[in-house]
Amino acid sequence: HQKGCGLALAGPWFPARDATDNFTYRTGIFRNRGAIEGNVVLDVGAGTGVLSVFCAQAGARKVYAVEASSIAEQAVGIVRQNGLEDRVDVIRGTLETSELPEQVDVIVSEWMGYALLHESMLNSVLFARDRWLKPGGLILPSRAELYVAPISDLVVEDRLSFWSTVKSQYGVDMSCMTDFAKKCIMNRDIAVSPVTVEDVLSHPARFAEIDLHTVTQEQLGSVRGAFACECFGSACVNAFCVWFTVTFPGGDKPLVLSTSPFQPETHWKQAVLYLDEPVDVVQDTKVTGEINMYPSEESARHICIDMQYTIGGCKNLCLLLCLYFALGLQVIPCFR
Ligand SMILES: C[S@@+](CC[C@H](N)C(=O)[O-])C[C@H]1O[C@@H](n2cnc3c(N)ncnc32)[C@H](O)[C@@H]1O
Repeated sequence: HQKGCGLALAGPWFPARDATDNFTYRTGIFRNRGAIEGNVVLDVGAGTGVLSVFCAQAGARKVYAVEASSIAEQAVGIVRQNGLEDRVDVIRGTLETSELPEQVDVIVSEWMGYALLHESMLNSVLFARDRWLKPGGLILPSRAELYVAPISDLVVEDRLSFWSTVKSQYGVDMSCMTDFAKKCIMNRDIAVSPVTVEDVLSHPARFAEIDLHTVTQEQLGSVRGAFACECFGSACVNAFCVWFTVTFPGGDKPLVLSTSPFQPETHWKQAVLYLDEPVDVVQDTKVTGEINMYPSEESARHICIDMQYTIGGCKNLCLLLCLYFALGLQVIPCFR
């Protein structure tokens, strides 16, 4: 069971620089330029400062780019390289302890973590909202939604069945490895891996929504909701997959950044929760349940997902999984 990977060297935010993400943020910012032009923006956890630069390009009078880590030094360089030193102030420090010279009209932040809330900075965004946003100010993005669907993870099935084929291929019976491999893969951790659309067994079911303008820190202590979906056809459910969208307002044209398996892959991939035992389904089999997401007791930035579900006639099934590792990555072991 392998944990961690090279991503750790760069920090969890570093691979966030994928094209979908950047493009959607830029478009979301420019669609809201009416609220940004001539106004003051706060970028919470500014990282490289690219969102701050977008806001300045969209006409912000002033952007405060608050960043806790040493990447702030790179942000200073990027701001200078773009000739925006007079309009973008990079402030090195945590948002919670930084002082701004004025209240702001707009908050922008790329705060989302794996499964939306794992190692997310949403609490810092809410702190910024309550401390620095003018009444009636704007938050970009302004809404987040969580979705779930049953899946059949065929790669995992394939990896498990591999051990039964070794004898016929290489003359060594390794079939007893199946149980060990199963324990490694389908343990109590949530996996973060890309789910292919063919593996998704129903339409997505939305189970929770977060309005960034109104949600409280207390409410983030338990983000919960019910779901119901019907299977497309005969298959074997061996996991649930959870993902999120965030939405930038924009009148009749809100813009959605989606991490759905039905959309191009993002670095957030999907969160996969394996069942202890697979369950066969047919067309229209009902899958219902309730999900509760809450911070783990060990670390407030790590997320637990508690899921009660029913598949067809099988009632009172229950999953309690935690996304523990700093990277949120359970690297699925490949035994081949
Ligand atoms: C996902 S990254 C943002 C990346 C950024 N939008 C960019 O384009 O480079 C989140 C950043 O927030 C910073 N951060 C996390 N918590 C913070 C806090 N409380 N105050 C300030 N910065 C914070 C992290 O150091 C990290 O650089």
